[in-house]
Amino acid sequence: MLVVANWKMKLDAAQSVALAGAMVRQERILPADVEVVVCPSHVSLTAVGEKIKGSRIGLGAQDCFWEVTGAYTGEVSPGDVYAAGCRFVILGHSERRQHVGETDEQVHRKVIAALRAGLVPMVCVGEDWQQRGDQQKDYVLIRQLQTALQGVVLGARERLVVAYEPVWAISTGGVGIEATPPEVQYACEVIAHVVTDLFGAATRNARVPIIYGGSVNPSNVAAFTRLPRVAGVLVGAASLNVSQFVDLINAAAGRGQK
Ligand code: PGA
Repeated sequence: MLVVANWKMKLDAAQSVALAGAMVRQERILPADVEVVVCPSHVSLTAVGEKIKGSRIGLGAQDCFWEVTGAYTGEVSPGDVYAAGCRFVILGHSERRQHVGETDEQVHRKVIAALRAGLVPMVCVGEDWQQRGDQQKDYVLIRQLQTALQGVVLGARERLVVAYEPVWAISTGGVGIEATPPEVQYACEVIAHVVTDLFGAATRNARVPIIYGGSVNPSNVAAFTRLPRVAGVLVGAASLNVSQFVDLINAAAGRGQK
């Protein structure tokens, strides 16, 4: 089970380090079968990496560029992200698609670069409210995945995570409706079919977990993580408070359900 905290642009460096420290203090009560990854902003990566060093909590970035070095003002190299201690990187989050116009082709280039740098890409896909209403959901998922992952070859030790995040269900910027577990299961089946087409069933099962994100909290997380196709969650708002996030992690593992 993978539980990923996406802190977005909500915490400054001091707050990020404080939250990471609080997570480390709770570490011994976290279930052993849950892999926890926190994704602070780029400027906080090094400090948070120091704070969680030697703990079970992993580090991820919220994005990286598709080149390793060069004249790319303002971009962040996947190599630097790795050197800062990250082993994961979120790619193609809907907020990046929406606010900076990130395309499926760009996500594809980032996936290749991230894998080359030794990172596990966590590729976000999901339909928006309009596409859902237009019965375009399957098509959107298939198009996003095929473009982002076409031609990607996973080495024997490489992993890639697909995060299903229906844009309308995200706590900020969504339409205030939570996705139901059957809807999530359905979408994750569609994703699993595409991933099987691209990588084969054996690789999918072993190395391409599908996780869910969108208003996940301690009360609803178990309903998602119980689904056969869901191998974890990507959590925004509910990851910003340590006791809430620890409750969520425990509930995700089927413990102390609330
Ligand atoms: P949320 O965010 O949990 O606040 O809905 C999830 C995400 O955007 O990754």
